Amino acid sequence: MPISQFNFPTLIRFGEGVVAELPAYLIKNHLQKPLVVTDPTIAGLPFFKLIVSGLQASGLSIEVFHNIHKNPVKSDVYNGTEAFDAAESDCIIGIGGGAAIDVARAILLRINHREDLFKYDDLIGGDVYVTNEVPHFIAIPTTAGTGSEVGRSAIIADDLTHQKKILFSPKLLAKIVFADPLLTMDLPPFITAATGMDALTHNMEAFLAKNYHPICEGIALEGIRLIAGALEQAVNHPTLQSRSDMLLASMMGAIAFQKGLGVVHSLAHPMSALLDTHHGLANAVNLPYGMRFNIAGSEEKFRRMAEALQIQNKTGEGVVDYLFELNARINIPTKLREVGVEVKHLDTLADLAFADFAHPNNPKPVSRNDFKTLYESAL
Ligand SMILES: NC(=O)c1ccc[n+]([C@@H]2O[C@H](COP(=O)([O-])OP(=O)(O)OC[C@H]3O[C@@H](n4cnc5c(N)ncnc54)[C@H](O)[C@@H]3O)[C@@H](O)[C@H]2O)c1
Ligand SMILES: [Fe+2]
Repeated sequence: MPISQFNFPTLIRFGEGVVAELPAYLIKNHLQKPLVVTDPTIAGLPFFKLIVSGLQASGLSIEVFHNIHKNPVKSDVYNGTEAFDAAESDCIIGIGGGAAIDVARAILLRINHREDLFKYDDLIGGDVYVTNEVPHFIAIPTTAGTGSEVGRSAIIADDLTHQKKILFSPKLLAKIVFADPLLTMDLPPFITAATGMDALTHNMEAFLAKNYHPICEGIALEGIRLIAGALEQAVNHPTLQSRSDMLLASMMGAIAFQKGLGVVHSLAHPMSALLDTHHGLANAVNLPYGMRFNIAGSEEKFRRMAEALQIQNKTGEGVVDYLFELNARINIPTKLREVGVEVKHLDTLADLAFADFAHPNNPKPVSRNDFKTLYESAL
């Protein structure tokens, strides 16, 4: 049996109101001048203002940087680095969904690595250049989807080509995550649905991915069980319990997907690159189709996922039917047409999907032709 390596993430403080621990944590760690990175929407929300005023009341000197794009680009990272320099900040706090936390993490990298940001692109082996120390980094999620807060990578696009690059290094892991479900209570239904389906996709694809990683499989199955019990409620009638379960399950998905992702993420990534589709929405629409593609050869794993979903029909088709019905209950479209995909896009989408990094870990191989057929069936 080959030797395996299993890595697990950072310290997570989880629970209702836990974000109130932030000022004391900073003071204990002799950090006085945080750069807080968020997005323009969150910067205007009451919970964000409360966090900032709490930090100020503790005598800390705060600089807020929120000037970022919906799908973050390189210039956002450069501008944020200038804000860090100008304020002579001594640490970085990322507060937000995947977009804001990714920008925070990319600024973290850039502070002591000033060559062109994309020199560090993991897809061309750039992680080997991440050799210097990085500042202290704290992550605070406000969506329950990407789980970026427990990750080690940041997805940043080129300003002109919109091509997405992945910055990766174990050094980019947050020192601590404050995961407070109260911050997610007022997420609008559409964002709850799309980000929640991203989390479900992470757990399902990680569970099926072909790498050997029983620890991640156990986490992924429990993540699936939590989402099955909580997502619909969190979208339609949010409670603290459903928000808590979703926040945990999103972190579990991101922990589990170090095992690998699969065909669904490869179908989704080109839609964000080409059509600016939200990452979670693109996964949600493609998930039932991608899972149907995966049934043959993975019947036993589908039976175990059906058990976690607590559905009657414990077969692959039962899981696929459940996913279509779940999407309908949380108002996610069932067809790609409804999210702006047209016949004329399919060839480019299939080319990009085939070139994507996620599907080599899919349980069965996916050809360019398979991608085209999958897009056609979902259109
Ligand atoms: N690093 C990773 O491992 C990883 C993995 C997958 C995706 N991503 C990236 O994550 C991003 C997507 O992240 P996301 O799905 O969390 O979406 P997001 O960060 O784009 O947020 C979605 C929307 O929700 C709003 N919002 C966030 N929190 C809110 C709150 N509490 N109340 C009200 N509104 C709130 C935001 O302002 C934004 O408009 C993409 O940029 C994607 O590339 C990163
Ligand atoms: Fe994802």
